[in-house]
Amino acid sequence: MDKLRFAMIGCGRIAHKSHSEAIIENRSLLECVVACDLVEEKARSFSNVLERAGLKKPEISIKHAEVLQRYDIDVVVVATESGKHYEITRAALEAGKHVLVEKPMALSVKHMNELIELAREKNLKLGVCFQNRFNPPVQELRKKIEAGAFGKINYGVIQVRWNRNEEYYRMAPWRGTWAMDGGVLMNQSTHGIDLLQWMLGGEIEEVYGRINNFSHPQIEAEDFGSAVVKFKNGSVGIIEATSTVYPQNLEERLSIFGERGTVVIGGLAVNRIEVWRFPGEDSHPFMSLPDPETVYGKGHIPLYKDFCKAILENRPPYISGEEGKKAVELVLAIYKSALENRPVRFPLTDFSTLEMEGFFSE
Ligand SMILES: NC(=O)c1ccc[n+]([C@@H]2O[C@H](COP(=O)([O-])OP(=O)(O)OC[C@H]3O[C@@H](n4cnc5c(N)ncnc54)[C@H](O)[C@@H]3O)[C@@H](O)[C@H]2O)c1
Repeated sequence: MDKLRFAMIGCGRIAHKSHSEAIIENRSLLECVVACDLVEEKARSFSNVLERAGLKKPEISIKHAEVLQRYDIDVVVVATESGKHYEITRAALEAGKHVLVEKPMALSVKHMNELIELAREKNLKLGVCFQNRFNPPVQELRKKIEAGAFGKINYGVIQVRWNRNEEYYRMAPWRGTWAMDGGVLMNQSTHGIDLLQWMLGGEIEEVYGRINNFSHPQIEAEDFGSAVVKFKNGSVGIIEATSTVYPQNLEERLSIFGERGTVVIGGLAVNRIEVWRFPGEDSHPFMSLPDPETVYGKGHIPLYKDFCKAILENRPPYISGEEGKKAVELVLAIYKSALENRPVRFPLTDFSTLEMEGFFSE
């Protein structure tokens, strides 16, 4: 079988930490042909990582527009700053490439809808990196949800209790800006919010949210967010997210409470089952899993595999554009609710992080 030919656009921190590993581990399915970054040194360093792992050395580029015009590339991975995802993903789809885009796929509802529609029109695959859906404990919980083991699900809670210091924002000044990112809800917590909405399931009716910036005066956006989410199926979701925990990351915990089941997955980043209770079951083998080296976990490896298979088998990826939109729409609704100081009803016709500019300075 011919390998799928990939181009990596954006060779920064997550590309080096997780995408390189996923490319190496999926070498039988794909080849990274080009490493592209505005900063040539970053593209070179990414290319060197793959070469050192014994892979064919990717070419280096600093011009993503040229990369997109190459006929020999099947798939484009977009791992630039969040605020550039829409523009580059759109251009890649227009150039006829399948796209795997880092989260969040875009920063407005309108842009997300456009990307989903464009991929559909062009019959191309669009996938989003919500890799925590592949965490083994999360997959175990998902199986119970799909089997209906909880009976009626009453409510669920996501708690992201982390710390991001000044150095983290100094390293990449786009973080924490409304134009390029958003705060702790959009950046660090979309994964957990995605898991919560995925487990509770179905359409959202209404969201009420509050955001604060307690202790990060160097960023425009929030370092604390909380929300109550009412689903049409009657379930309630509770969101607590912060990057202010003293003195370091504490935990990311997802709790699901149903009529006949209780599951709590905690650890540093939803990687360890803490509570597992169903009729006749009160423990699970994944109760003693170690924390991952970083909060990103290892989910990019199965995510890449699934995305390649989706192309080869012509089926939707496990985390498609439609799936990738849901958590981002929910975060945007929390922002809108905070801005308007009232509950927001779904679906959002449109809302963008740009509408939050000046929120904490007024
Ligand atoms: N899935 C996850 O767990 C996870 C974790 C961290 C970051 N992310 C996401 O990944 C994205 C990148 O985050 P990061 O921490 O790696 O940021 P980063 O700043 O380290 O890297 C972004 C890179 O993109 C490059 N770039 C910008 N515009 C470009 C262009 N037009 N062409 C080529 N390269 C370009 C920059 O030069 C930079 O090197 C963000 O959207 C972030 O939300 C996801």
